[in-house]
Amino acid sequence: MEAKTVKNSQTTITELMIPSYANFGGKIHGGILLSIMDKTAYACASKHAGNYCVTVSIENVEFLQPVEVGDLVSFYASVNYVGKSSLVVGMKVVAENVKMGTARHTNSSYFTMVAKGDDNKTAMVPELVLEEEIEVRRFLEALKRKEFSTAFRDRMQDVKSAFSRKDMDLLSEERCVVGFI
Ligand SMILES: CC(C)(COP(=O)(O)OP(=O)(O)OC[C@H]1O[C@@H](n2cnc3c(N)ncnc32)[C@H](O)[C@@H]1OP(=O)(O)O)[C@@H](O)C(=O)NCCC(=O)NCCS
Repeated sequence: MEAKTVKNSQTTITELMIPSYANFGGKIHGGILLSIMDKTAYACASKHAGNYCVTVSIENVEFLQPVEVGDLVSFYASVNYVGKSSLVVGMKVVAENVKMGTARHTNSSYFTMVAKGDDNKTAMVPELVLEEEIEVRRFLEALKRKEFSTAFRDRMQDVKSAFSRKDMDLLSEERCVVGFI
């Protein structure tokens, strides 16, 4: 299987934010943005994999700035990392106000996708050719993110299994009411 460059699968989708995408506050629904992000990640990952891919996890989804109706939003996707059957697609979202000529970087997220073959089993993906220093940096960052996510999942599993009613004391300062004893 021949290695492929990052550039080979880089994908950009640009879409105009139309009124039917808005919530009651007049801003664009987060779910609309997530759906386009997932589609862009899917296109990018599948092109690298040479197979269809499924989304396994999405990290760092934070909508810190609202996107407005009329904004032209671009979704830039690149493969940052490959494992055996998994890939991490880095996604940058930029919203432009075409009349004012301004652009805002609204968020960056990381999609872990897994390639599947015709038998619906996980399929090996090609190695990634890193041609630039920034591509090396992103690959290494993805390795670290993977390590941190695994550690986080393990810690949360410990928290779940260690739950005891005594922990309810920790709620005394929280804004909740325990409705049973
Ligand atoms: C993703 C999926 C194929 C993994 O199946 P699995 O039996 O756990 O397969 P494996 O253990 O062999 O893992 C396959 C790869 O997924 C990665 N993976 C599995 N779970 C993961 C997780 N929670 N986060 C990140 N990567 C994960 C593994 O590290 C492995 O990567 P590698 O091949 O590069 O080493 C399976 O869970 C699946 O099909 N999920 C449904 C995905 C889907 O339909 N998504 C659409 C949204 S509804």
